[in-house]
Amino acid sequence: MVKKYVFGKPLDTEAVVVNVEPVQGVPEYGEVTVKENFSWSVRMEDDDIVYGLGEANRGINKRGFKYVSNCSDIPNHTEDLQSLYAAHNFIVISGKKNVGLFFDEPSKMTFDIGYTHQDRLVVSAERQDMKLYVIDGDSAYDVVKQFRKIIGRSYIPPKFAFGFGQSRWGYKTREDFEAVVDGYRNNHIPMDLLYMDIDYMKDYKDFTVNEENFPDFPAFVDQMKERGIHLVPIIDAGVKIEDGYDVYEDGVKGGYFCKREDGSDFAAAVWPGRTHFPDVLNEDARKWFGDYYKRLLDAGIDGFWNDMNEPAIFYSDESMSELKAFLKDFAQDEDDRIPHYLLQMKVGALANNCEDYKRFFHNMKGEQVRHDRVHNLYGYNMTRAAGEAFERLEPNRRILMFSRSSYIGMHRYGGVWTGDNKSWWSHLLLNLKMLPSLNMCGFLYAGADLGGFGADTTRDLLLRWLALGVFTPLMRNHSAMGTRNQECYGFENIEDFRHIISVRYRLIPYLYSEYMKAALNDDLYFKPLAFVYPDDKMATEVEDQLIIGNEIMIAPVYTQNASGRYVYLPEEMMFVKFMPDGSLETRILSQGHHYIHVALNEVGLFVRKAHCIPLAHAAETVDTIQTGHMEMIGYAGAQYTLYEDDGVRKDYDLEKNSTVLYD
Ligand code: GLC
Repeated sequence: MVKKYVFGKPLDTEAVVVNVEPVQGVPEYGEVTVKENFSWSVRMEDDDIVYGLGEANRGINKRGFKYVSNCSDIPNHTEDLQSLYAAHNFIVISGKKNVGLFFDEPSKMTFDIGYTHQDRLVVSAERQDMKLYVIDGDSAYDVVKQFRKIIGRSYIPPKFAFGFGQSRWGYKTREDFEAVVDGYRNNHIPMDLLYMDIDYMKDYKDFTVNEENFPDFPAFVDQMKERGIHLVPIIDAGVKIEDGYDVYEDGVKGGYFCKREDGSDFAAAVWPGRTHFPDVLNEDARKWFGDYYKRLLDAGIDGFWNDMNEPAIFYSDESMSELKAFLKDFAQDEDDRIPHYLLQMKVGALANNCEDYKRFFHNMKGEQVRHDRVHNLYGYNMTRAAGEAFERLEPNRRILMFSRSSYIGMHRYGGVWTGDNKSWWSHLLLNLKMLPSLNMCGFLYAGADLGGFGADTTRDLLLRWLALGVFTPLMRNHSAMGTRNQECYGFENIEDFRHIISVRYRLIPYLYSEYMKAALNDDLYFKPLAFVYPDDKMATEVEDQLIIGNEIMIAPVYTQNASGRYVYLPEEMMFVKFMPDGSLETRILSQGHHYIHVALNEVGLFVRKAHCIPLAHAAETVDTIQTGHMEMIGYAGAQYTLYEDDGVRKDYDLEKNSTVLYD
């Protein structure tokens, strides 16, 4: 049962797609206070678990910390960080009662979940306006499924997007890209996608390609396709200010950029230097910006990643002038009157400063809306610009799209990657924990930078992270410029990498089938154990194992120098290990705790009792996976319903495209 309550004058975020008539009064559950700002609070029972918040720090159970929904470009995801790139304001409180709450408000919000007082959950906004959806259900899982129904179907990528992809910030020339493909193909490590970071562009200008490095770009895209590779270029939010650059000039002419209060175009520096931000909250500007993707589609491109769309701001014209004024004073301060720490503070506060969000405005249906009022909607609408354009330009073909920043609602237009993590073991675990929460908020196509983006990776970390990536819909190895090279073929014993990634390809028919079922049924691809075994107290505390679809459980190894790990099995399961020689080792494990051995070059999974899954032969591209010749693994006598389609068109049909397979 979904109820909606409206306070003040909330803006329409278009996160919810079904019409829910507002109920008068306040929710029975919890307490609403509207003074200068809106807040809602409730007393939590000792055993209550709080799920949700999608892309957020810490655990599956969000209790014991404070989270701030304020899309931020912060690359240091330490344990104390309260905001990441996204704002997913949906939580479920699960205990004796199971209640979901969606705080549909796009300005900054705080979720104090037992942080100030251990038994109090306080959600507060900075304004009085709020659209609050309250969902009652029989279980946390039931609440989530009801929520997913009201926010609309999750984005469905093309099937090739389930292949493995390589990325690195720093590939520049055609030769750089060819060398990566050579590295993978020559070593027979499967691969379908090669990502193009900002250096493919001319001076970081969106929708341009550096012609010196790519003299005939469409021909290059074609040649890559012949090698089974889809190139996936990045598109950044900021449009470079440069005379003669048509996107800039047309944007200025059309009035499509975000403006200052006085009507001039707001300028902020990002990778290209000074840029303007397309006003993607304005429908006309959204269409205008979205249409530029056609340039790359026409060149043969069929996938994109949208970046820097919190939007990231290195500095604005205003903040830079303030800093320069300070620096001038500082330089002239011969008597040391200005404390030196201020220098560091002022410089440090330049990037992604919330003060800048008050300096620009959107045109929403003719109304001038200050950015801080709608901050968390920017990445959503940049990706929506692309998604709507694809619907116009390619109505029958799926285009790969994922974004860094997002708000609930964006899940209908694209997936997410979780931004600039680090080559830290703790981030492998964070990646694992975030996945079911993202799914609860509709983001099914998701993944992290495998191996870690910042800092130098190690061979064992990359292998372990890939072994988790085997199961994440988006499986991409990405790293930052200046860090150790991270391509799989650059490490010792390449066969170990080949093996781990081959396991992914053997599992793709199953993983894709489960993804499609989850998307088409508004269900979860990744579930916490508690959603499947709600009465098992031990299962509700497991934060490092996940259920995928209906059939399997995963328990990745996430510590260094470990030959395996402890697992908890809520019921008897079959432990399957993909051995480096291509064989399978299977063993029935009873309900309870076990230590499982998984070497660096092995992948393990658990098939749930009375279930089975299909397994294809190894292949080097998604296209060449033979689904006609699959073996079944798992329990004898079990059956599996396989969803299969051409992976490109949009005529999804669960019934027509399903086949029952028997073990
Ligand atoms: C941002 C992105 C990262 C990308 C870099 C350069 O930091 O998050 O993935 O490599 O920008 O474009």
